[in-house]
Amino acid sequence: MCSCGELHWGWGRCAPGPVLLLSLLLSAAPAALMGEETRRVSLEVIPNWRGPPQNLLHIRAVGTNSTLHYVWSSLGPPAGLLVATNTPNSFLTVNWSRLLSPEPDEGLMILPKDSIQFSSALVFTRLFEFDITNISETVKFPGKPYPPYSLAEFSWNNITDSLDPATLSTTFQGHPIHDSTKAFANGSLNFRVQAFSKSGRPAQPPRLLHTADTCQLEVALVGASPRGNHSLFGLEVATLSQGADCPSVQEQHSIDDEYAPAVFQLNQLLWNSFPSGFMQWRPVAFSQKQGSRESALPCQVSPPHHTLTYPLPQSPIVRAFFGSKTNFCAFNLTFGASAGPGYWDQHYLSWSMLLGVGSPPVDTLSPLVLGIMAVALGAPGLLLLGGSLILLLCHKRSSEYQPLN
Ligand SMILES: *[C@@H]1O[C@H](CO)[C@@H](O)[C@H](O)[C@H]1NC(C)=O
Ligand SMILES: *[C@@H]1O[C@H](CO)[C@@H](O)[C@H](O)[C@H]1NC(C)=O
Ligand SMILES: *[C@@H]1O[C@H](CO)[C@@H](O)[C@H](O)[C@H]1NC(C)=O
Ligand SMILES: *[C@@H]1O[C@H](CO)[C@@H](O)[C@H](O)[C@H]1NC(C)=O
Ligand SMILES: *[C@@H]1O[C@H](CO)[C@@H](O)[C@H](O)[C@H]1NC(C)=O
Ligand SMILES: *[C@@H]1O[C@H](CO)[C@@H](O)[C@H](O)[C@H]1NC(C)=O
Ligand SMILES: *[C@@H]1O[C@H](CO)[C@@H](O)[C@H](O)[C@H]1NC(C)=O
Repeated sequence: MCSCGELHWGWGRCAPGPVLLLSLLLSAAPAALMGEETRRVSLEVIPNWRGPPQNLLHIRAVGTNSTLHYVWSSLGPPAGLLVATNTPNSFLTVNWSRLLSPEPDEGLMILPKDSIQFSSALVFTRLFEFDITNISETVKFPGKPYPPYSLAEFSWNNITDSLDPATLSTTFQGHPIHDSTKAFANGSLNFRVQAFSKSGRPAQPPRLLHTADTCQLEVALVGASPRGNHSLFGLEVATLSQGADCPSVQEQHSIDDEYAPAVFQLNQLLWNSFPSGFMQWRPVAFSQKQGSRESALPCQVSPPHHTLTYPLPQSPIVRAFFGSKTNFCAFNLTFGASAGPGYWDQHYLSWSMLLGVGSPPVDTLSPLVLGIMAVALGAPGLLLLGGSLILLLCHKRSSEYQPLN
């Protein structure tokens, strides 16, 4: 799987160098957020009058000069489309008979086509479970895999029942259609989708800063019986490659841990285009509903690579929008480590990410630090401040936090 040894979990290293620190300080102004500040957001479940009922959610986020469309569906494996247009008037059309046919091309479109500035998609293909008990020279992290769950073979609840216009959210709750081991008798895999009309930060860790240009996805595995005593879970995600290369995953260091204790990193997947879209997450998952430092698990990502060698389950909405001439890249996320908290504690695991367009949100510094900066004028002052911050952070980290592994 991934080159786990090279992944740095918050505690691994000391604070970033002075140049990076300076650029972090300079980019910390609250006005650094790009795009529209507020949007009119609507959530609509698109009904299928003629065929079998299927979950198809359209989120439309309208600004003065642009509209973002998010389409989420559990038709096939759970998938989401992100389409950004440069007009407030773009709209979605769905031809159900085409979408449900073996050739779904153009069964789902955003019109007018020439208003589209950016588009991409995510498909959640498989849920992995590994036995972490016997990690050795021969059995590498994350351990011996159990047979994976194909998310294309899940059945999903009716998202209309959990649609909440107040929080602009809904939940896709699924379990395997053929659950011979009854592992999901009392459990489910949940994809909670939430849109935002303005920027802010949720109360629950990892408290990712969102803007009106983003949509949040929280994936939670709740109550499913693990197949061993020490099971670690993973998720396979596929996305479109733009051009020959797969999108890249970047690590960003954050010097402020006020909002996600002890997690000094942000991971970002960026599609290689302009304007671009992004997927952003903190490399942390939680083994309890009330996420806290005690229930934090590391989340590791493998580098995205082309999937020409093995077939991925097809998502009809992705095929419908992008056609058949598309290349996919896939990567794995794994949640947990061989020691520390795990899914086994409470049969609970959750992880969140943002999907959006433009520049990914940048964590601003806390008011205290900004206040100090206002006093410390000029670059030498900033460098000095940077130096002492590094010392403070290093000291704080080495004294307060225990490594997970
Ligand atoms: C969900 O429920 C709504 C209202 O109860 C119904 O109109 C719709 O057909 C259902 N959709 C699915 C996917 O079952
Ligand atoms: C919207 O477009 C108009 C005309 O192109 C431009 O003057 C205006 O600044 C844009 N507004 C925003 C918020 O981008
Ligand atoms: C929907 O697709 C079907 C099959 O391709 C086609 O016959 C029909 O005309 C389409 N309907 C609309 C409203 O475009
Ligand atoms: C772990 O390894 C030991 C020794 O090789 C073996 O006895 C045991 O059955 C293994 N446990 C599992 C769960 O595979
Ligand atoms: C599911 O929950 C019921 C009631 O709490 C319990 O009796 C049953 O053993 C559980 N099944 C599994 C597979 O965990
Ligand atoms: C799981 O733990 C129980 C009790 O500690 C033990 O009896 C059982 O052998 C373990 N199962 C495996 C697969 O390691
Ligand atoms: C994800 O991990 C599984 C199990 O180790 C592996 O079979 C699969 O090829 C991986 N997928 C990707 C995209 O790396």
